[in-house]
Amino acid sequence: MSRELFNAKILVTGGLGFMGSAFIRYLIQNPNFTGRVINLDVMSYAADEKNLEGIEEGERYRFVQGDIQDEYLLFTLFREEQFDMIVHFAAESHVDRSIEGPKDFLMTNVIGTSCLLELVRRHPKIHFHHISTDEVYGALGHEGVFTEESPYRPNSPYSASKAASDHLVRSYIMTYGISATISHSSNNFGPGQHEEKLIPQMIKRLLHGEPLTLYGNGENVRDWVFVDDHAKAVSAIIEKGNPGEVYNVGGENEWMNRDLIHLLVELFGEVSGNKTSARIIYVKDRPGHDFRYAIDPSKIFSLGWRPEKTFREGLKETILWWESRLTAPVEL
Ligand SMILES: NC(=O)c1ccc[n+]([C@@H]2O[C@H](COP(=O)([O-])OP(=O)(O)OC[C@H]3O[C@@H](n4cnc5c(N)ncnc54)[C@H](O)[C@@H]3O)[C@@H](O)[C@H]2O)c1
Repeated sequence: MSRELFNAKILVTGGLGFMGSAFIRYLIQNPNFTGRVINLDVMSYAADEKNLEGIEEGERYRFVQGDIQDEYLLFTLFREEQFDMIVHFAAESHVDRSIEGPKDFLMTNVIGTSCLLELVRRHPKIHFHHISTDEVYGALGHEGVFTEESPYRPNSPYSASKAASDHLVRSYIMTYGISATISHSSNNFGPGQHEEKLIPQMIKRLLHGEPLTLYGNGENVRDWVFVDDHAKAVSAIIEKGNPGEVYNVGGENEWMNRDLIHLLVELFGEVSGNKTSARIIYVKDRPGHDFRYAIDPSKIFSLGWRPEKTFREGLKETILWWESRLTAPVEL
Protein backbone atom coordinates (compact mmCIF):
# COMPACT_ATOMS: atom_id res chain seq x y z
CA MET A 1 0.00 0.00 0.00
CA SER A 2 1.29 3.44 -0.83
CA ARG A 3 0.76 6.34 1.57
CA GLU A 4 1.71 9.93 0.77
CA LEU A 5 4.01 11.17 3.52
CA PHE A 6 5.33 14.24 1.77
CA ASN A 7 2.01 16.03 1.43
CA ALA A 8 0.41 14.73 4.62
CA LYS A 9 -0.51 16.49 7.85
CA ILE A 10 1.50 14.64 10.46
CA LEU A 11 1.37 14.68 14.25
CA VAL A 12 4.86 13.82 15.45
CA THR A 13 5.11 13.04 19.16
CA GLY A 14 8.41 13.61 20.98
CA GLY A 15 9.73 15.73 18.13
CA LEU A 16 12.19 17.65 20.32
CA GLY A 17 13.95 14.41 21.23
CA PHE A 18 16.88 12.84 19.44
CA MET A 19 15.10 10.69 16.84
CA GLY A 20 11.83 12.60 16.49
CA SER A 21 13.71 15.82 15.69
CA ALA A 22 15.78 14.02 13.02
CA PHE A 23 12.53 12.85 11.42
CA ILE A 24 11.08 16.39 11.48
CA ARG A 25 14.28 17.85 9.98
CA TYR A 26 14.18 15.18 7.29
CA LEU A 27 10.65 16.23 6.29
CA ILE A 28 10.85 20.00 6.65
CA GLN A 29 14.25 20.33 4.97
CA ASN A 30 13.09 18.24 1.99
CA PRO A 31 11.99 20.52 -0.88
CA ASN A 32 9.35 17.93 -1.86
CA PHE A 33 7.58 18.23 1.50
CA THR A 34 4.36 20.18 1.01
CA GLY A 35 2.57 18.89 4.11
CA ARG A 36 2.46 20.07 7.72
CA VAL A 37 4.12 18.79 10.89
CA ILE A 38 2.55 19.30 14.30
CA ASN A 39 5.16 18.50 16.93
CA LEU A 40 3.69 17.51 20.31
CA ASP A 41 6.33 17.30 23.01
CA VAL A 42 6.05 17.64 26.78
CA MET A 43 9.60 19.08 26.93
CA SER A 44 10.98 16.63 29.44
CA TYR A 45 14.65 16.71 30.46
CA ALA A 46 15.38 14.80 27.20
CA ALA A 47 13.93 17.46 24.88
CA ASP A 48 16.25 19.94 23.23
CA GLU A 49 14.89 22.89 21.26
CA LYS A 50 18.28 23.27 19.58
CA ASN A 51 17.55 20.03 17.71
CA LEU A 52 15.10 22.02 15.57
CA GLU A 53 17.02 25.29 15.41
CA GLY A 54 16.15 27.21 12.24
CA ILE A 55 12.74 25.54 11.78
CA GLU A 56 10.19 28.31 12.20
CA GLU A 57 6.52 27.92 13.08
CA GLY A 58 4.26 28.61 10.11
CA GLU A 59 2.31 26.82 7.42
CA ARG A 60 4.54 23.76 7.45
CA TYR A 61 5.35 23.48 11.16
CA ARG A 62 3.66 23.99 14.52
CA PHE A 63 5.00 23.21 17.97
CA VAL A 64 2.69 22.29 20.84
CA GLN A 65 4.00 21.73 24.34
CA GLY A 66 1.90 19.00 25.91
CA ASP A 67 1.65 15.48 27.20
CA ILE A 68 0.49 12.54 25.08
CA GLN A 69 -1.46 11.42 28.16
CA ASP A 70 -3.66 14.54 27.87
CA GLU A 71 -6.61 13.14 25.92
CA TYR A 72 -8.46 16.46 25.85
CA LEU A 73 -5.43 18.07 24.20
CA LEU A 74 -5.15 15.22 21.66
CA PHE A 75 -8.80 15.49 20.61
CA THR A 76 -8.58 19.31 20.43
CA LEU A 77 -5.46 19.09 18.31
CA PHE A 78 -7.17 16.70 15.93
CA ARG A 79 -10.20 18.99 15.66
CA GLU A 80 -7.90 21.91 14.79
CA GLU A 81 -5.48 20.14 12.49
CA GLN A 82 -7.24 17.06 11.04
CA PHE A 83 -3.90 15.29 10.67
CA ASP A 84 -3.62 12.22 8.41
CA MET A 85 -1.07 10.34 10.47
CA ILE A 86 0.70 10.10 13.80
CA VAL A 87 4.37 9.18 14.00
CA HIS A 88 4.89 8.30 17.65
CA PHE A 89 8.41 8.84 19.00
CA ALA A 90 7.55 10.23 22.47
CA ALA A 91 8.82 7.97 25.23
CA GLU A 92 10.90 7.68 28.32
CA SER A 93 13.91 6.12 26.63
CA HIS A 94 16.81 5.56 29.03
CA VAL A 95 17.19 2.03 30.44
CA ASP A 96 19.21 3.14 33.49
CA ARG A 97 16.48 5.59 34.52
CA SER A 98 13.85 2.86 34.14
CA ILE A 99 15.82 0.73 36.61
CA GLU A 100 15.88 3.61 39.09
CA GLY A 101 12.13 4.24 38.71
CA PRO A 102 9.83 2.46 36.27
CA LYS A 103 6.65 4.47 36.85
CA ASP A 104 7.26 7.33 34.37
CA PHE A 105 8.03 4.67 31.77
CA LEU A 106 4.70 2.98 32.31
CA MET A 107 2.83 6.29 32.24
CA THR A 108 4.32 7.73 29.06
CA ASN A 109 5.18 4.59 27.13
CA VAL A 110 2.07 2.55 27.92
CA ILE A 111 -0.70 4.94 29.04
CA GLY A 112 0.48 7.68 26.67
CA THR A 113 0.45 5.30 23.72
CA SER A 114 -3.02 4.08 24.70
CA CYS A 115 -4.31 7.69 24.65
CA LEU A 116 -3.01 8.16 21.10
CA LEU A 117 -4.56 4.85 20.07
CA GLU A 118 -7.93 5.95 21.46
CA LEU A 119 -7.78 9.01 19.21
CA VAL A 120 -6.99 6.81 16.20
CA ARG A 121 -9.80 4.40 17.09
CA ARG A 122 -12.26 7.30 17.00
CA HIS A 123 -10.74 8.75 13.80
CA PRO A 124 -9.77 5.76 11.68
CA LYS A 125 -8.57 7.91 8.76
CA ILE A 126 -5.39 8.46 10.83
CA HIS A 127 -2.49 6.10 10.10
CA PHE A 128 -0.43 5.36 13.24
CA HIS A 129 3.27 4.60 13.03
CA HIS A 130 4.70 3.35 16.31
CA ILE A 131 8.44 3.67 16.99
CA SER A 132 9.59 0.73 19.07
CA THR A 133 12.93 -0.85 19.86
CA ASP A 134 14.76 -4.12 19.25
CA GLU A 135 15.15 -4.33 23.04
CA VAL A 136 11.65 -5.85 23.31
CA TYR A 137 13.14 -9.10 21.92
CA GLY A 138 15.52 -9.46 24.86
CA ALA A 139 19.12 -10.57 24.53
CA LEU A 140 20.93 -12.74 21.97
CA GLY A 141 23.95 -14.95 22.56
CA HIS A 142 27.01 -14.81 20.30
CA GLU A 143 24.99 -16.10 17.33
CA GLY A 144 21.62 -15.32 15.72
CA VAL A 145 19.59 -12.24 14.80
CA PHE A 146 16.18 -10.85 15.67
CA THR A 147 13.52 -11.13 12.99
CA GLU A 148 10.02 -9.69 13.00
CA GLU A 149 8.86 -13.11 14.26
CA SER A 150 11.20 -13.23 17.27
CA PRO A 151 9.42 -13.76 20.61
CA TYR A 152 9.14 -10.89 23.07
CA ARG A 153 11.49 -11.25 26.06
CA PRO A 154 11.97 -7.75 27.53
CA ASN A 155 14.54 -7.62 30.34
CA SER A 156 14.30 -4.05 31.67
CA PRO A 157 11.36 -1.92 32.80
CA TYR A 158 12.08 0.26 29.72
CA SER A 159 11.85 -2.60 27.24
CA ALA A 160 8.86 -4.08 29.08
CA SER A 161 7.01 -0.76 28.76
CA LYS A 162 7.85 -0.58 25.04
CA ALA A 163 6.72 -4.20 24.63
CA ALA A 164 3.42 -3.38 26.35
CA SER A 165 2.89 -0.45 23.98
CA ASP A 166 3.60 -2.68 20.96
CA HIS A 167 1.00 -5.17 22.18
CA LEU A 168 -1.54 -2.37 22.57
CA VAL A 169 -0.92 -1.23 18.99
CA ARG A 170 -1.33 -4.79 17.74
CA SER A 171 -4.53 -5.21 19.74
CA TYR A 172 -6.01 -2.02 18.23
CA ILE A 173 -5.16 -3.32 14.75
CA MET A 174 -6.78 -6.70 15.44
CA THR A 175 -9.74 -5.48 17.51
CA TYR A 176 -10.65 -2.15 15.96
CA GLY A 177 -9.05 -2.47 12.53
CA ILE A 178 -6.96 0.71 12.83
CA SER A 179 -4.27 1.34 10.22
CA ALA A 180 -0.90 1.04 11.94
CA THR A 181 2.70 -0.01 11.39
CA ILE A 182 5.44 -0.69 13.96
CA SER A 183 9.21 -0.40 13.61
CA HIS A 184 11.81 -1.90 15.92
CA SER A 185 15.09 -0.10 15.54
CA SER A 186 18.50 -0.98 16.84
CA ASN A 187 20.59 1.69 18.61
CA ASN A 188 20.59 5.08 16.92
CA PHE A 189 23.55 7.44 17.06
CA GLY A 190 24.31 10.92 15.74
CA PRO A 191 24.18 14.60 16.64
CA GLY A 192 21.46 15.69 19.06
CA GLN A 193 21.38 12.68 21.35
CA HIS A 194 21.07 13.29 25.09
CA GLU A 195 24.40 13.09 26.89
CA GLU A 196 23.18 10.31 29.19
CA LYS A 197 23.50 7.79 26.31
CA LEU A 198 26.71 5.81 25.64
CA ILE A 199 28.25 7.53 22.59
CA PRO A 200 27.59 11.16 23.67
CA GLN A 201 28.81 10.36 27.17
CA MET A 202 32.08 8.92 25.83
CA ILE A 203 32.63 11.86 23.45
CA LYS A 204 32.04 14.35 26.26
CA ARG A 205 34.52 12.53 28.46
CA LEU A 206 37.08 12.55 25.64
CA LEU A 207 36.55 16.28 25.16
CA HIS A 208 37.06 16.87 28.87
CA GLY A 209 40.06 14.51 29.07
CA GLU A 210 38.22 12.24 31.53
CA PRO A 211 38.48 8.42 31.72
CA LEU A 212 35.92 6.40 29.77
CA THR A 213 33.69 4.08 31.81
CA LEU A 214 32.16 0.88 30.49
CA TYR A 215 29.69 -1.50 32.10
CA GLY A 216 30.91 -5.03 32.94
CA ASN A 217 33.71 -6.30 30.71
CA GLY A 218 32.69 -4.09 27.78
CA GLU A 219 31.81 -7.12 25.66
CA ASN A 220 28.13 -6.29 25.14
CA VAL A 221 27.28 -5.97 21.45
CA ARG A 222 24.99 -3.42 19.82
CA ASP A 223 23.97 -2.75 16.23
CA TRP A 224 24.14 0.95 15.28
CA VAL A 225 22.11 3.04 12.79
CA PHE A 226 22.72 6.71 12.03
CA VAL A 227 19.74 8.77 13.18
CA ASP A 228 19.12 10.41 9.77
CA ASP A 229 19.10 6.95 8.16
CA HIS A 230 16.51 5.90 10.72
CA ALA A 231 14.31 8.85 9.68
CA LYS A 232 14.46 7.59 6.09
CA ALA A 233 13.60 4.05 7.22
CA VAL A 234 10.48 5.33 8.98
CA SER A 235 9.56 7.27 5.86
CA ALA A 236 9.96 4.10 3.72
CA ILE A 237 7.74 2.09 6.08
CA ILE A 238 5.01 4.73 6.14
CA GLU A 239 5.04 5.13 2.38
CA LYS A 240 5.58 1.55 1.22
CA GLY A 241 4.91 -0.71 4.20
CA ASN A 242 1.77 -2.75 4.66
CA PRO A 243 -0.69 -1.71 7.38
CA GLY A 244 -0.63 -4.09 10.30
CA GLU A 245 2.99 -5.06 9.65
CA VAL A 246 6.12 -4.85 11.74
CA TYR A 247 9.55 -3.85 10.37
CA ASN A 248 12.93 -4.21 12.05
CA VAL A 249 15.45 -1.46 11.30
CA GLY A 250 19.11 -2.37 11.65
CA GLY A 251 22.37 -1.22 10.15
CA GLU A 252 24.18 -4.58 9.80
CA ASN A 253 26.73 -2.77 11.95
CA GLU A 254 27.44 -4.74 15.11
CA TRP A 255 30.06 -3.46 17.56
CA MET A 256 31.26 -4.72 20.89
CA ASN A 257 31.13 -1.73 23.28
CA ARG A 258 34.85 -2.06 24.00
CA ASP A 259 35.75 -1.93 20.27
CA LEU A 260 33.37 0.98 19.76
CA ILE A 261 35.19 2.93 22.46
CA HIS A 262 38.57 2.25 20.83
CA LEU A 263 37.16 3.41 17.47
CA LEU A 264 35.82 6.58 19.10
CA VAL A 265 39.24 7.31 20.61
CA GLU A 266 40.88 6.80 17.18
CA LEU A 267 38.34 9.04 15.38
CA PHE A 268 38.57 11.67 18.11
CA GLY A 269 42.33 11.79 17.42
CA GLU A 270 41.73 12.12 13.66
CA VAL A 271 39.21 14.92 14.13
CA SER A 272 41.36 16.86 16.59
CA GLY A 273 44.59 16.23 14.65
CA ASN A 274 46.31 14.76 17.73
CA LYS A 275 46.98 11.18 18.63
CA THR A 276 44.68 10.62 21.60
CA SER A 277 44.82 8.01 24.30
CA ALA A 278 42.19 7.43 26.93
CA ARG A 279 41.92 5.45 30.11
CA ILE A 280 39.06 2.95 30.15
CA ILE A 281 37.53 2.00 33.51
CA TYR A 282 35.24 -1.01 33.77
CA VAL A 283 32.43 -0.47 36.27
CA LYS A 284 29.94 -2.89 37.86
CA ASP A 285 27.47 -4.10 35.22
CA ARG A 286 23.90 -2.88 35.36
CA PRO A 287 21.22 -5.43 36.27
CA GLY A 288 19.42 -7.07 33.33
CA HIS A 289 22.06 -5.79 30.88
CA ASP A 290 21.31 -7.53 27.56
CA PHE A 291 24.41 -9.15 26.09
CA ARG A 292 23.80 -8.67 22.36
CA TYR A 293 21.22 -7.25 19.94
CA ALA A 294 21.35 -7.86 16.20
CA ILE A 295 18.75 -7.44 13.52
CA ASP A 296 17.94 -9.23 10.29
CA PRO A 297 17.06 -6.17 8.16
CA SER A 298 15.90 -8.08 5.05
CA LYS A 299 12.26 -6.98 5.41
CA ILE A 300 13.06 -3.25 5.58
CA PHE A 301 15.67 -3.73 2.81
CA SER A 302 12.83 -5.13 0.63
CA LEU A 303 11.22 -1.65 0.83
CA GLY A 304 14.33 -0.21 -0.83
CA TRP A 305 15.86 1.32 2.33
CA ARG A 306 19.55 0.94 3.08
CA PRO A 307 21.69 2.76 5.67
CA GLU A 308 23.67 5.43 3.80
CA LYS A 309 26.08 6.83 6.38
CA THR A 310 29.13 4.75 7.28
CA PHE A 311 29.80 4.28 10.98
CA ARG A 312 33.11 6.19 10.79
CA GLU A 313 31.52 9.15 8.95
CA GLY A 314 28.56 9.27 11.34
CA LEU A 315 30.77 9.10 14.42
CA LYS A 316 33.06 11.85 13.13
CA GLU A 317 30.03 14.04 12.47
CA THR A 318 28.83 13.35 16.01
CA ILE A 319 32.23 14.19 17.54
CA LEU A 320 32.37 17.47 15.57
CA TRP A 321 28.83 18.32 16.69
CA TRP A 322 29.73 17.84 20.35
CA GLU A 323 32.97 19.74 19.91
CA SER A 324 31.16 22.76 18.46
CA ARG A 325 28.47 22.54 21.11
CA LEU A 326 30.83 22.39 24.05
CA THR A 327 33.06 25.15 22.77
CA ALA A 328 30.21 27.48 21.67
CA PRO A 329 30.03 30.83 23.52
CA VAL A 330 27.57 30.80 26.41
CA GLU A 331 24.25 32.49 25.51
CA LEU A 332 23.39 35.36 27.86
N1 LIG B 1 17.64 6.11 21.01
C1 LIG B 1 17.69 4.88 20.50
O1 LIG B 1 18.77 4.36 20.21
C2 LIG B 1 16.40 4.13 20.22
C3 LIG B 1 16.47 2.91 19.55
C4 LIG B 1 15.28 2.25 19.23
C5 LIG B 1 14.06 2.82 19.56
N2 LIG B 1 14.02 4.00 20.23
C6 LIG B 1 12.69 4.60 20.49
O2 LIG B 1 12.64 5.77 19.70
C7 LIG B 1 11.83 6.77 20.32
C8 LIG B 1 12.60 8.06 20.42
O3 LIG B 1 13.80 7.85 21.16
P1 LIG B 1 14.80 9.06 21.43
O4 LIG B 1 16.13 8.46 21.65
O5 LIG B 1 14.61 10.11 20.42
O6 LIG B 1 14.21 9.58 22.83
P2 LIG B 1 14.55 10.91 23.62
O7 LIG B 1 14.55 10.52 25.05
O8 LIG B 1 15.74 11.60 23.04
O9 LIG B 1 13.31 11.86 23.31
C9 LIG B 1 12.02 11.59 23.78
C10 LIG B 1 11.17 12.85 23.55
O10 LIG B 1 9.83 12.54 23.95
C11 LIG B 1 9.33 13.62 24.74
N3 LIG B 1 8.35 13.07 25.69
C12 LIG B 1 8.61 12.25 26.74
N4 LIG B 1 7.46 11.99 27.40
C13 LIG B 1 6.46 12.63 26.73
C14 LIG B 1 5.07 12.74 26.92
N5 LIG B 1 4.45 12.13 27.95
N6 LIG B 1 4.34 13.49 26.06
C15 LIG B 1 4.94 14.13 25.03
N7 LIG B 1 6.30 14.07 24.80
C16 LIG B 1 7.02 13.33 25.64
C17 LIG B 1 10.55 14.18 25.45
O11 LIG B 1 10.33 15.51 25.89
C18 LIG B 1 11.62 14.06 24.38
O12 LIG B 1 11.66 15.22 23.56
C19 LIG B 1 11.43 6.17 21.66
O13 LIG B 1 10.14 5.63 21.53
C20 LIG B 1 12.43 5.06 21.91
O14 LIG B 1 11.87 4.04 22.68
C21 LIG B 1 15.17 4.67 20.57
